[in-house]
Amino acid sequence: MTATHTTGTPSAIDTRPATPESTSGSGHLTPGSAPQTATSADHRPGVRDARRHLASEARRDPSRMQRDLRDHLLLNFTDMSRFDQSDLPVFVRGEGCHVIDAHGRRFIDGLSGLFCTNLGHSYGAEVGDAAARQLSELVFTPTWTVAHPAAIELAERIASYAPDGMEHVFFTSSGSEAVESAWKLARQWHTQRGEPQRRKAISRRYAYHGTSLGALSFTGYAAARAPFEPLAVPTHHVSPTYAYRHPLGDDEAAFCAALLAEIEEAIEFEGADTIAMLIAEPVQNSGGSYMPPAGYWAGLRDICDRHGILLVADEVITGFGRVGHWFASERFGVVPDMITFAKGVTAGHAPLGGVVVHGRVAEPFASGRTSFAHGLTWGGHPLSAAIALTVLDIIEREDVIAHVRHNEPLIRGRLEAMRDLPLVGDVRGAGHFWALELVKDKESKLAFTAGEADWLLRDVLSSQMWDAGLLCRLDDRAEPVIQLSPPLVADIALIDEMLTIVADALTHVSALVDQDRRPAA
Ligand SMILES: Cc1ncc(COP(=O)(O)O)c(C=O)c1O
Repeated sequence: MTATHTTGTPSAIDTRPATPESTSGSGHLTPGSAPQTATSADHRPGVRDARRHLASEARRDPSRMQRDLRDHLLLNFTDMSRFDQSDLPVFVRGEGCHVIDAHGRRFIDGLSGLFCTNLGHSYGAEVGDAAARQLSELVFTPTWTVAHPAAIELAERIASYAPDGMEHVFFTSSGSEAVESAWKLARQWHTQRGEPQRRKAISRRYAYHGTSLGALSFTGYAAARAPFEPLAVPTHHVSPTYAYRHPLGDDEAAFCAALLAEIEEAIEFEGADTIAMLIAEPVQNSGGSYMPPAGYWAGLRDICDRHGILLVADEVITGFGRVGHWFASERFGVVPDMITFAKGVTAGHAPLGGVVVHGRVAEPFASGRTSFAHGLTWGGHPLSAAIALTVLDIIEREDVIAHVRHNEPLIRGRLEAMRDLPLVGDVRGAGHFWALELVKDKESKLAFTAGEADWLLRDVLSSQMWDAGLLCRLDDRAEPVIQLSPPLVADIALIDEMLTIVADALTHVSALVDQDRRPAA
């Protein structure tokens, strides 16, 4: 995944190993130990188990995994042509804040495996014990009409971390489902109040809210949307909180006022009474950790209140500690109507997502005046719920959120110093959620062309980072950025190691840029 790099697709990936190690060996199998043809003696349990073990070891042989991967596994957002000459990365193990690939190479998990492994890879056994306890007690019951203790306890627990008045939780299995569930809650809530005509949404350009067809309507990234248009929900996309190139970006108050005025204009254009919800991430990931200017979230709250629009904070990434709070909404002093979450709630140990719902939005459903016409078999699965409860225990016990807050100024200081490095135009972010924007000329903020950005990220930086053992994201959905989001338990020494790799890679790439600029002899 280093270089999880995106050109033309939202979360995808140039993960090419620059110098793949040999894949010709037989992996863990000693010569001659391949599974033999079964004989009648093989039906004894011990022999059968040994055969199964050997067969599964054989399947872990790196070259066999490459072949089986290419033959059978369809990957998300992956340009396979990038891997014509090299292995696709296969990670087999995690240790602390590192992952280890099929050839035994260690990498810093610098994007927390897509913002999920917030506790790194050290707590699997403890979480696994909780999972085993849950499975030996109750394998499964849905949360349709009936419930189970883990989902009940988890809902209460999540509500206790959420802003005041956000008392109810609806569970899903993913972030996209969480976003779609918020949309359906919004639509039904308005209908219940006599406003079924509120069928539109407002979201922001470049924002990523998921890929299922409802959530994709809110996603503001053209390349992900285009193949599937027309999309389900008519959505007006407004500007993200991208200060660096905004004409008023240096004046926080004026920048904030301009962004809010644009939303007011959009509402007027669409018709206020046609809009059901406004969805935004507290810190927008796509484009590179776009921080909101002071007053932005208070402004969103005010606009939504005045126009009867529900405000949804998409905290699929920012929830559960990534920016130093249980929810980033708390950091920005806002009480949204709904918060969508996923990833960090289980720190990657199991799939789970959901929506925290304000009491006033939950009321028609919780009181029995109407029922929510939506459900997902796996929503709030006992296994995922039990895992989430244990993960939340660990976050509390290890004081993980205080650790992120402690690290934030240290990381900020180091990244600010990196502005002196070649090509670094902007540095932004919070907690353990940062981006460096790369520019051709720092003085004029001259941007790289699309072709140059592709060369910079895919051809050069990607293999630099891979060779140095850092997984991060190199993204050019908007301007080219290096995104760094280490596990929340990462210490400052590991973060320094990451930043040294980034600094070395930038120094190397800038030398190449300079050479390209040299006039032909
Ligand atoms: C802010 C945000 N919302 C929604 C999603 C979709 O989540 P999932 O991939 O679990 O469906 C993502 C995924 O990265 C996200 O970052």
